[in-house]
Amino acid sequence: MQNIQWDKLKFEFMPTRSNIRFHYADGQWDDGRLTGDYNISMSVAANVLHYGQAIFEGMKAFCGKDGKVRVFRPYANAKRLNSSARQLVMPEFPEDKFVEAVQKVVRDNIDFVPPYGTGGSLYIRPVMFGTSPQIGVNASLEYELVIMVMPVGPYYKDGIKPVDAMISVDFDRAAPKGTGHIKAAGNYAASLLSSKKAKEQHFPIVLFLDPGTHTYVDEFSTSNFLAITKDGKYVTTLSGSILPSVTNDSLLTVAADLGMPVERRKVHVDELADFAEVAACGTAVVVTPVGKIVYGEKTIDYGWTEIGPQLKKLYDRMTGIQYAEYPDTHNWLVEC
Ligand code: COI
Repeated sequence: MQNIQWDKLKFEFMPTRSNIRFHYADGQWDDGRLTGDYNISMSVAANVLHYGQAIFEGMKAFCGKDGKVRVFRPYANAKRLNSSARQLVMPEFPEDKFVEAVQKVVRDNIDFVPPYGTGGSLYIRPVMFGTSPQIGVNASLEYELVIMVMPVGPYYKDGIKPVDAMISVDFDRAAPKGTGHIKAAGNYAASLLSSKKAKEQHFPIVLFLDPGTHTYVDEFSTSNFLAITKDGKYVTTLSGSILPSVTNDSLLTVAADLGMPVERRKVHVDELADFAEVAACGTAVVVTPVGKIVYGEKTIDYGWTEIGPQLKKLYDRMTGIQYAEYPDTHNWLVEC
């Protein structure tokens, strides 16, 4: 067991024993290797540095109540990685090989998995990028897929305490028919200026509207949007420019299991004031409640100083499944 203060973990990079790397050349992926090296060597003309062929994923492994370590829904992430790859003209990576690689790197770093009861998890970050040296705008011929792991705690510093959000009025994170629906590194680069401006005004999180009309809610800079209506429905946004979040999909399923009606539909910005509870959801942020949303001169205050009751129910059931406290009836967990 590593000498780490598990209950003090933040969402921060930490090198561990190993990461696993695969190289793609001559039309195929190699067999991969574990390495303790956290640096890479590539040409300064590599595609990723100039033309941005870079996609990534986020997953977590949990130490369950029974002491076993399991990854949450890695096949869903494998599918999404390949959907991102197709959109950016990058090679797909076989799903089974992806899940085996995740298991292998988690097993090699098993002593970095936060013990059950500490509230932490092992974050798994696959990243794929084009490495061919080139100066013309073309898809790279060679790629690297690296899967790294690190123990993490909450993304926002107060854990599941509500955070205040600001709607981005000056910038979009994606274009209407652009790359908003895939996990392209560039989407996150595009959100940085809005996030910087929001943080300067003490808003830890930014909410983006649909880039076509700026009238419907899209998603947060780090995560999907979900809301609970006053009559107890789970509502999440439908848009062509948001990431299909594995966490949101899981929460929708959990909500239905708990008997909550669920709706995936367009959410007009004016509807924000009508919700009872609002949250950001994603692998990193899990379910982070939103206390207030500021939109220009207008402030919507949901009035929560703690996570609200419906979100708490969802959070407890979801983390209960992840930590093997509840049966995994949907077969989401893969043991390492
Ligand atoms: C995740 O939730 O895993 C992500 O990749 C989002 C990122 C902003 C941390």
